Amino acid sequence: MSAYERADAMAAIAEALDAGIVVFDAARVVRFVNTRACGLLQRTVAQVDGTALAQHFAFLDDARLAGVVKDQREVPLPDGSTVTLAFSITTTAIADEPSHVALLQDVTPKRKMQGERDLFLQLAAVGEAMPTVLHELRNPLSAVLSAIEVLADERREDEALRDELQIIENEVRRALLGIEGLGLSSRSLRTVSEDDVGEAIRTVCHILGARARRNRIELDVQIEPMPKLYLDASAMRALVYNLVTNAIHACKSGAKVRVRAQIEPATTDFELTVEDTGSGMPPEVLARCTQLFFTTKRSGSGIGLALCRDLVMRGGADLDIVSAVGAGTKVRITVPVPHCRPLSNTGREERRDTHP
Ligand SMILES: Nc1ncnc2c1ncn2[C@@H]1O[C@H](COP(=O)(O)OP(=O)(O)O)[C@@H](O)[C@H]1O
Ligand SMILES: [Mg+2]
Repeated sequence: MSAYERADAMAAIAEALDAGIVVFDAARVVRFVNTRACGLLQRTVAQVDGTALAQHFAFLDDARLAGVVKDQREVPLPDGSTVTLAFSITTTAIADEPSHVALLQDVTPKRKMQGERDLFLQLAAVGEAMPTVLHELRNPLSAVLSAIEVLADERREDEALRDELQIIENEVRRALLGIEGLGLSSRSLRTVSEDDVGEAIRTVCHILGARARRNRIELDVQIEPMPKLYLDASAMRALVYNLVTNAIHACKSGAKVRVRAQIEPATTDFELTVEDTGSGMPPEVLARCTQLFFTTKRSGSGIGLALCRDLVMRGGADLDIVSAVGAGTKVRITVPVPHCRPLSNTGREERRDTHP
């Protein structure tokens, strides 16, 4: 085989490989590059061949100068995205000239999977610690609540103190509601025993009402008379707490939050809607808002809507979020509750079958 034929064969082999190959000389000029290496960087062989290594492969140039022979780099691409490339550089002699051969592999998918695996491990660790953390938080708060009640009772005649205590009590109850929701991560919205869901919603709105008033946000609550339902009151409290808290966060002074709960007469589904005239969400936030740990708030946790979504999904219910920037957000939860009829005007149940 002549030298010419051998060079051709080598080039054909380099093209057939599922790896990027960049050969550069001691002056760090690209002497050979295969199509794959150029494709990884969204370039063509004609653009790259014969150029200074630093021009298109700055990460290899840096590595070479620093004496790094094997590593990974996140490399920016012309279209604004990035690719994670693993590389190894071998030093050799080609036609008696000291040269370097760099092999490149796209490890972006692997990197993404590693990121997801790390997140799962993190979640598992948080999940394991959660009951203890919640217990540690709940107990002292409950003790504070009892102390407030005793104090308020003892100093009944002191109006100023009573008002102060009322504010503290409300904040403690609000914190307890948040904690209660976090403890429900594996619970379902449905139960085998009946609960007064309307009362659960009213309680939460009452506690959050103080915060809304302080921020001059109108909280308008309308709960239609309904029978007890086979739905979990603490799950309902968590839903309302998270949805109304989000709505209040999204609202400026003068805005409005409407909470509606009813048995929809046509379908007999239980329906909860929380609607606000707040900031609304742009499409990219709306698309991700129920993802665990997704938040746009500086001190947000990104847990609220993920918890709502899980509770709703496990309960075979629907969660529907409609939002527009500047107009506000409407969240509707619909839970089929078979054999249930709305109460008549007399407030008495029209028909109530036994557990479905
Ligand atoms: N009513 C709402 N109005 C505007 N944006 C909202 C509303 N509810 C949720 N969001 C958006 O969804 C994100 C996730 O909400 P959530 O899971 O409750 O976490 P957090 O409240 O801790 O940020 C919020 O950070 C916010 O960007
Ligand atoms: Mg929230």
